[in-house]
Amino acid sequence: MEIIHTINELKARLSHHRSQGQTIGLVPTMGALHEGHASLVRRSVADNDITVVSIFLNPTQFNDKNDLATYPRTLEADCDLLRECGATYAFAPSVEEVYPEPDTRQFSYPPTDTVMEGAMRPGHFNGVCQIVSKLFMMTEPTRAYFGEKDYQQIAVIRRMVDDLGFALEIVPCPVIREESGLAKSSRNMLLSDSERQIAAHIYRALHESKSLIDRMSVSEVHDHVVAQINAVDGLEVQYFSIVDGLTLVDIQSWDEAQSVVGCITVYCGEKLIRLIDHIRYK
Ligand code: PAJ
Repeated sequence: MEIIHTINELKARLSHHRSQGQTIGLVPTMGALHEGHASLVRRSVADNDITVVSIFLNPTQFNDKNDLATYPRTLEADCDLLRECGATYAFAPSVEEVYPEPDTRQFSYPPTDTVMEGAMRPGHFNGVCQIVSKLFMMTEPTRAYFGEKDYQQIAVIRRMVDDLGFALEIVPCPVIREESGLAKSSRNMLLSDSERQIAAHIYRALHESKSLIDRMSVSEVHDHVVAQINAVDGLEVQYFSIVDGLTLVDIQSWDEAQSVVGCITVYCGEKLIRLIDHIRYK
């Protein structure tokens, strides 16, 4: 695996591969890689001739500068994992390389980018669209891989791809979890062992709530899940939204949409680490 730091070098390598008729898979990441990321990379390696994994802690999507400052940085271990997965290139540019000028572009895809994470983290999805659109333009991938762990992010990126007419396929990949059920996340590194155990209650409550939908209304299930999680010392629900899985609009009854998803964000422990998860009801 080769590590590339500049856009020019990346473009030169990829245009050579493209001229040979090779397919290119792109896996965008912010580093601090774990098995969740690895599952995307392995999928891309299986589907494509060439796999590019970008490792770039994108400052424009962090509205909380402390979150950016404490985000784990583990480039060497990341590259070891990528080699193991069979990636062709790790693309790890500097902030100056990606943003030689401040990015003033504005993306707006309501309601996908205004609800839930969009409401809680103003500007977050604008920053995600800025970096992902740049990565798409630099790489011109055949396919791009995103985890359903960030369910809303995929919905926003799909809208951007349609809007800007990128000729690529978005491949959504399932959530990889710890044995306890906790969704793997780079932020889990910031949790103590006991906080990790506490955090497992999030998915437990979500998973168990699936069995309630035959006898409880949407709002009853909502309140039940929030109460169960808030009852755990060290957890506090920021929001739990039961939404149409495509439009992300809140629903009031189970038969209102073909696909229904519950999206949650919970603060965990004294450092108030934000953990995101979701459950598919139908
Ligand atoms: P990051 O949080 O590093 O995640 C990179 C990709 O890995 C995302 O598509 C995310 O959904 C996926 N992922 C993370 N944990 C996962 C898990 N447990 N199971 C499956 N997939 C998982 O998401 C971002 O970075 C950034 O917003 C990015 C798209 C790179 C733009 O900066």
